[in-house]
Amino acid sequence: MCIVLFSKPLTFDLCDSSLNILHCFWLNVAFGEEKPRPSMLRHLTSKIKATGPITVAEYMREALTNPVTGYYVRNDMLGPDGDFITSPEISQIFGELLGVWTLSEWMAAGRPKRLQLVELGPGKGSLAGDVLRVFSQLRSVVGGASVSLHLVEVSPVLSRLQAQNLTGSRNREADGEDQLVYRRGETAAGVPVSWYRRLEDVPSGFSIFLAHEFFDALPIHTFQRTQRGWREVMVDVDPEKTERLRFVLAPSPTPASTTLVQPDERRGHVEVCAEGGVVVQQLARRIVEDGGAALIADYGHDGTKTDTFRGFKGHRLHDVLSAPGSADLTADVDFSFLRRMAGGGVACVGPVTQRTFLKNMGIDARLQVLLRSCSDASAREQLLAGYDLLTGRSQMGERFHFFGLLHRSRLAEPTRPGGLKLEGKRSAAPLPVAGFTELSFS
Ligand SMILES: C[S@@+](CC[C@H](N)C(=O)[O-])C[C@H]1O[C@@H](n2cnc3c(N)ncnc32)[C@H](O)[C@@H]1O
Repeated sequence: MCIVLFSKPLTFDLCDSSLNILHCFWLNVAFGEEKPRPSMLRHLTSKIKATGPITVAEYMREALTNPVTGYYVRNDMLGPDGDFITSPEISQIFGELLGVWTLSEWMAAGRPKRLQLVELGPGKGSLAGDVLRVFSQLRSVVGGASVSLHLVEVSPVLSRLQAQNLTGSRNREADGEDQLVYRRGETAAGVPVSWYRRLEDVPSGFSIFLAHEFFDALPIHTFQRTQRGWREVMVDVDPEKTERLRFVLAPSPTPASTTLVQPDERRGHVEVCAEGGVVVQQLARRIVEDGGAALIADYGHDGTKTDTFRGFKGHRLHDVLSAPGSADLTADVDFSFLRRMAGGGVACVGPVTQRTFLKNMGIDARLQVLLRSCSDASAREQLLAGYDLLTGRSQMGERFHFFGLLHRSRLAEPTRPGGLKLEGKRSAAPLPVAGFTELSFS
């Protein structure tokens, strides 16, 4: 066997200072010595030794969703005993308000007979459960519409948890591993629930899509501006310590660096979530063809931030290259990129901060209603603490953002059947989009 064939095809430079600073920063804020997860680390180091450094996107995809050792595939990471906590787990009000949003968009679309609620990355199923409870409570509004729930989830562990929380024992795993719907069930109220690994497997039809902290979990490519042009950041084995990984820069352009960085990009370091772009394109196409809307909620920015790739373990920052597969890896969502990828076929609204969105949806009024009907002191305290966490300016209120995709007709002035605009009539204005516009609750 010729050893040369197995040497690295290219030489990779160490990244320039800003990446090193980033990496050192994460190293410094990681607490305690990590116990490496040998199988994932070994898998990655063998791969890199065989074929050369891998992109950050490939590293992230392997670490999070490798079918055997991926972080999401093996763990239940949500909640106080896990690695992070999310808004639907903090307070029922969050999911309830998204339920109201779902119904308001369904009503604005003329109350189609069939309503598919599709959630991407449903975690423990708490958000879907809270939304469905709103549907039950507003049965008089939902009327005879046929509601179904469709969950896009890559993790078998989490899908089992979702099934338990949403359907109790009324669910069943598909017989073959290659089934598009890998689990089916029914809620106590009789809503059919189906589980898919990919969005493209969800049947077509009028749908409201919810994605909370889903896009931030999708793999990003990262790029560094250099004197020789844009270079992609790669993950390599540290030659001085083969059990350690390090960032390096590709010495020449990669397919991703030539296609994903915008020609007029001004930042020095850019993260691009190509997979998120593909998902948004799919959502936009479905909304154009079948009607509906998508609500994306995540921490993010509008094309302004640079280094946001980070890890979380046990509610603390974690070095992204340490013990892959044992910690959550995440990057802020670039809403300007999602808007560009959605294209002109749909209308985009937002991003607005979580605080603005929830206040526009009436979180203050809902909190008061719940407080009035709650006499238990600790439950009241919990409701108030949850409210502060969700809306506080220094908490999730300003860090998280809401972004919507709507059918273009949703924001257009209604026309007469012949195409004439209905001018000068109060009813001619499109209905405001809940959450993105302040609604009156008087
Ligand atoms: C950060 S958790 C958020 C969970 C939940 N939405 C919440 O807010 O509590 C990310 C979720 O997306 C799922 N997920 C991650 N990558 C995925 C992928 N590529 N396809 C489908 N689901 C994915 C995870 O298993 C998990 O359910």
